[in-house]
Amino acid sequence: MPVTMDRREWLTRSGAAAVYAVVAGCQSAPSLLKRGDRDLVRLNLNENPYGPSPAARKAMAEAFDESHLYRGIPYQELRKLIAEQEDIPPDHIVIGSGSGEILNVAGLIYGRDGGEILAPQPTFEQLQQYATTVGATIHRVPLDDRMNQDLKEMSRRISSKTSLVYICNPNNPTGVLVDGSALRTFCEDASGRTVVYVDEAYHEFVDSPTHRTMVELVREGRNVIVSRTASKIHALAGLRIGFGIARPDIIRTLAQHRTGSVNVVGLRGAIASYHDAAYQSISKRRTQQGKEALYALLDRTGHRYLRSEGNFVFFQTGRSIEQFRTSMQEQGILVARPFPPFNDWCRVSIGTDEGMERFAQALQTVFNS
Ligand SMILES: Cc1ncc(COP(=O)(O)O)c(C=O)c1O
Repeated sequence: MPVTMDRREWLTRSGAAAVYAVVAGCQSAPSLLKRGDRDLVRLNLNENPYGPSPAARKAMAEAFDESHLYRGIPYQELRKLIAEQEDIPPDHIVIGSGSGEILNVAGLIYGRDGGEILAPQPTFEQLQQYATTVGATIHRVPLDDRMNQDLKEMSRRISSKTSLVYICNPNNPTGVLVDGSALRTFCEDASGRTVVYVDEAYHEFVDSPTHRTMVELVREGRNVIVSRTASKIHALAGLRIGFGIARPDIIRTLAQHRTGSVNVVGLRGAIASYHDAAYQSISKRRTQQGKEALYALLDRTGHRYLRSEGNFVFFQTGRSIEQFRTSMQEQGILVARPFPPFNDWCRVSIGTDEGMERFAQALQTVFNS
């Protein structure tokens, strides 16, 4: 089916003009493309294309003057701030080089010595991949027929050998959320038998009232690790700030196994950004509007998609993802890697209006070819 969407239509559907007016007062226009990748629109890594908040930019610029100092003071400051926002003591928090470091360290600790890790498929693979480097066995549980994480089957598959269960909520690549009370029931039971890791990288984008963060189970002292990140809603991916939230004994073990550290500029940016609720809601709203515009486009082209609670959308292209990815790249658009077994589905991140307009044009060219 032919696809057409011009710039004006994209902007109207995404409601971008109104939001732009709000942002324009406080922030320079976001750049479409990263320097060095001039010709490519990056819709492959779920980056936040709007860039850091004005407050975070200012704090980071000021932090240059602190660059000769080790991270101590801002580290404790950010830890305290997150603790206040999550209503949990600071000793329940470890800050890492992105939440990726927390995932790696958990993969190492729970994957070594014959560890067995249970995870949905498809999902975010970082913890599982790191765990395999220390010899872990990964057991993958397919999504259910609604493409949700199959908690019933995951519960059934936990054995005395299971060292960690990984859940991603909302899930990457589907964007589908696990119902909060069902997840709580699952985690209550599973954390009595093993450690449960809940990756909440996209938590701040979620709209559904059924969502519940599993930080509430950490507060109750259960065997649960939650991770969050400054990379997504805060648009600080390149600064590498993320954290784990867990009982202090688990936090100490995670902290002991970190191999790097975090940097003062990133910490200062994150402190300012976590204080900046207005920026977070603008970022969330623009992402939401971008998703609605994309759904409208996919409705018109007759392509199946999942409504997403993240900053990306998973849709069925009807052709091999490898082939689709190559064709899109030829049009200057990067989309995500394959997520087997959904080999004709594509995960695309929500970019700027200009980026999404170019995505729509590329889709038109590729589908019509
Ligand atoms: C589900 C999920 N968790 C964690 C991460 C890692 O993010 P970071 O290391 O930047 O915090 C990502 C990145 O895309 C993700 O999608």
